[in-house]
Amino acid sequence: MDKIIIEGGKTQLKGEVIIEGAKNAVLPLLAATILPTEGQTVLKNVPILSDVFTMNNVVRGLDVTVHFNEAENEVTVDARGDILDVAPYEYVSKMRASIVVLGPILARNGHAKVSMPGGCTIGSRPIDLHLKGLEAMGAKIEQTGGDITATADRLKGANIYMDFPSVGATQNLMMAATLAEGTTTIENAAREPEIVDLANLLNKMGASVTGAGTENLTIIGVDKMHGAEHSVVQDRIEAGTFMVAAAMTNGDVLIKDAVWEHNRPLISKLREMGVEVTEEEAGIRVVSNLDHLKPVTVKTMPHPGFPTDMQAQFTALMAVVSGESTMIETVFENRFQHLEEMRRMGLNSEILRDTARIHGGLPLQGAQVMSTDLRASAALILTGMVAEGTTIVGKLTHLDRGYYKFHEKLAQLGANIRRVNGDS
Ligand code: EPZ
Repeated sequence: MDKIIIEGGKTQLKGEVIIEGAKNAVLPLLAATILPTEGQTVLKNVPILSDVFTMNNVVRGLDVTVHFNEAENEVTVDARGDILDVAPYEYVSKMRASIVVLGPILARNGHAKVSMPGGCTIGSRPIDLHLKGLEAMGAKIEQTGGDITATADRLKGANIYMDFPSVGATQNLMMAATLAEGTTTIENAAREPEIVDLANLLNKMGASVTGAGTENLTIIGVDKMHGAEHSVVQDRIEAGTFMVAAAMTNGDVLIKDAVWEHNRPLISKLREMGVEVTEEEAGIRVVSNLDHLKPVTVKTMPHPGFPTDMQAQFTALMAVVSGESTMIETVFENRFQHLEEMRRMGLNSEILRDTARIHGGLPLQGAQVMSTDLRASAALILTGMVAEGTTIVGKLTHLDRGYYKFHEKLAQLGANIRRVNGDS
């Protein structure tokens, strides 16, 4: 098992960093490539991440041709001809995001079988909203032996009101509705930039999706779809992670090609703290002086609120800003595990249900820490940059799901960081 070793303390990040295509956009985009029965789909700006390889294998398992040209960051998919309707357990069980192939397979074949995604460390993550929406469109859903089986001669347009603006459920239902008979409306839909990116691809494929980015989506069903070419939207969470890294280290970093509009809630909080964030032609620049920063209160919310996927990284920033900051995690029920590990580095914090109080600015010491999920891994590495001494972060399989060459990008900005394989 690889480890990342950081010599922390006086790190000051300076320079430019490039970011990749968004993990949370490319996974549903790959699911959408199942829908066309004519032509091929080419996705560009595809990040080289373990989750992408997993989703490629899920789609391949449906007897669809998938070619990933890593050198060009390009995936070409050919879903012409009959596709299978059972998603391969060995890959689906590895990545809960695979559940978004359920809607497209069902829409295409009238029958789909996908294994029930497990929970994960950050929460139980049920899929009731996905299933309720498909049932509203006329699907018959059975859950037996850990599998979900959905059948529908042809899905029918429906008016769906989401109890919660679930990202995955919005994506699944939007894709299912593209080939349904009639019109589907989805109210209280998720509004994340990755939803807009998916709607853009679906419309290029001949679908008719309007309202993406707002809480009300309308999808007019079409009879068939064709392949298209699409470039994956930039990863706002990777960009945000480097913005926080710069803020924590008295840095001056330009995050190239970062999209201001996609990071407004994070930028607003960084500015409230006293971090200088400016929009430049080439991207977003972050300049920080820790002596001038003050504690803040942050509450995670569905977009356009503060993103839960930036919560762990932002608590690492709160840990180095003098005073008491508060983080309230409203989206997932168990997403503070990184704080337990950071406590081993000297972090002084109390957690009470969805609220963490962080007494920042106290000295932190390097330690051997374990990452529990993707964003927690990033947060621990960032904390290692500012803690005195050596920090060793293990279980990097989480990190590799969502960050490409993370340690190399930090080293290039000035961090003293290296990755060693487990047995050394
Ligand atoms: C997506 O997960 C992202 N993953 C997550 O990013 C992100 O944290 C999350 O959206 C919220 O922004 C991908 O896009 C691949 P949800 P998703 O459905 O779709 C509850 C990362 O670090 N819920 O919006 O699974 C659920 O329990 C990952 O990149 C139901 O109750 O998120 C959770 O509390 C982590 N019933 C909340 O909604 C449902 O049917 C948000 O879940 C579905 C969800």
